[in-house]
Amino acid sequence: MSVSVIIPAAGKGERFGKKKQFLHYKNKSVLMYAISPFVFCDEINEVIIAVSKDDKNQVNDYLKVANFKKKVSIVEGGLLRQDSVKNAIKCSNKKNQIICIHDCARPFISKSLIQKAIKKCITSDAVVVAVPSTDTLKETKDLKIKKTIDRDKIWKAQTPQVFKRSIIENVLFDLKYENFFYTDESSLVEQAGYDVSIVEGSPLNIKITTKDDWLLAKAIFKEIYND
Ligand code: CTP
Ligand code: MG
Repeated sequence: MSVSVIIPAAGKGERFGKKKQFLHYKNKSVLMYAISPFVFCDEINEVIIAVSKDDKNQVNDYLKVANFKKKVSIVEGGLLRQDSVKNAIKCSNKKNQIICIHDCARPFISKSLIQKAIKKCITSDAVVVAVPSTDTLKETKDLKIKKTIDRDKIWKAQTPQVFKRSIIENVLFDLKYENFFYTDESSLVEQAGYDVSIVEGSPLNIKITTKDDWLLAKAIFKEIYND
């Protein structure tokens, strides 16, 4: 089994106020923290980062400094995350039967969790790393609660998300779904009727979306790297 990893990193960080993939902790960018554990997984033989045209040189410089033994390729991202992912899949090695997608804004992913998710995909159509919700969720309208949702059934989806190549290609490039908008690929695969399994992830595998997340991220970095 061989795996291609796609790292969409062409976002603008509108909610954060700048491109959060290029924030640094101790001279290393969030993007490089996010991709490193994938580079060190033996199952993975291809890593592709989708970036904006303007950021290609910068990311190339990061890769030169990192000097990984494994090749990491750069492709151009698109207007939406889904366009960035599609561009990267088009450029990936068709011999790899598994596609793994990971947000560049999740720098705390571990090699063991990546391997667990990939392994699970051998017997599933698709796999999503997720964590059980610890909050009680409320469905609302105009700031009034309409319904309380049974917390036991609620999981929060993260990345990585892992797919059989044939399945994700069938769905993402199906003209029927061309005008669909989705924030993660598993939603579309699930809608197309495939089985999407869950692998329990870590609450520390946060996505940096807002400035508050960066406060948390700095605390997690400190803890992990023993500062
Ligand atoms: N992404 C991408 N191409 C886009 C938009 C997003 O590759 N056109 C990537 C981001 O770089 C990020 C991931 O998709 O790794 C998740 O997106 P999100 O957290 O929404 O990041 P941004 O789109 O950058 O943030 P915002 O939505 O606040 O602008
Ligand atoms: Mg976005």
